[in-house]
Amino acid sequence: MKWRAILGLAGVAMAGAAPAQETGEGRRLAEETRKVAVELVGQIRGALTKELELSGPMRAVIVCKYTVPELSSALSRKTGWRVTRVSLKPRNPALGTADAWEQRVLLDFEKRAERGEKLDAIEFGEVVTEPAGRYYRYMKVLPMAPVCMSCHGTDDRMTQSVRSLLQAEYPHDRATGLAAGHVRGAVTVKRPL
Ligand code: HEC
Repeated sequence: MKWRAILGLAGVAMAGAAPAQETGEGRRLAEETRKVAVELVGQIRGALTKELELSGPMRAVIVCKYTVPELSSALSRKTGWRVTRVSLKPRNPALGTADAWEQRVLLDFEKRAERGEKLDAIEFGEVVTEPAGRYYRYMKVLPMAPVCMSCHGTDDRMTQSVRSLLQAEYPHDRATGLAAGHVRGAVTVKRPL
């Protein structure tokens, strides 16, 4: 498929500086979509950092539970694309479970991270044809940053009260015990073409 060749097969980094063989169209799709994903990553980190500093992890849970979905919905409304976040180890399976395409990309992201690629630079995009139409699909890694540790980290990094709250709210939580520098999940964007 043409676009796969243009944007790189799974496993090949879609580097910030576009390879010469990329067409203007492929580059435009990647650049526009990356901009929105980067905006969401920045908004998430900003909102979490602010709330953690102001009132600590118990209240910041609200940010990840309500504010982040609101921020992604706002970006979805603004762009007309589906913008959200997913993970191979979701805390909230109802919202955070990856579909087949996303699972494949996330598995590949983990391999790329193991090979030492810089987490902040890991992304992938391609045009896909589904029964409902053609889409540009794009994902960008959400790395486990220090600010994520108080709610997704190893036991020693989480307070007992946060652990109890999360256990009560998310009985199927798979998103703890992660060390900094791992792939926590990804922003995923699906835009109709
Ligand atoms: C204060 C606690 C807290 C912090 C800090 C936190 N999260 Fe979360 N995170 C949550 C909660 C709670 C959910 C479940 C939200 C929901 O109900 O959909 C969640 C969900 C997610 C999801 C959606 C997929 C899933 O697992 O359900 C991703 C991705 C995610 N967090 C990434 C991060 C990243 C990356 C950071 C650091 C930048 C971070 N989180 C920091 C509490 C936190």
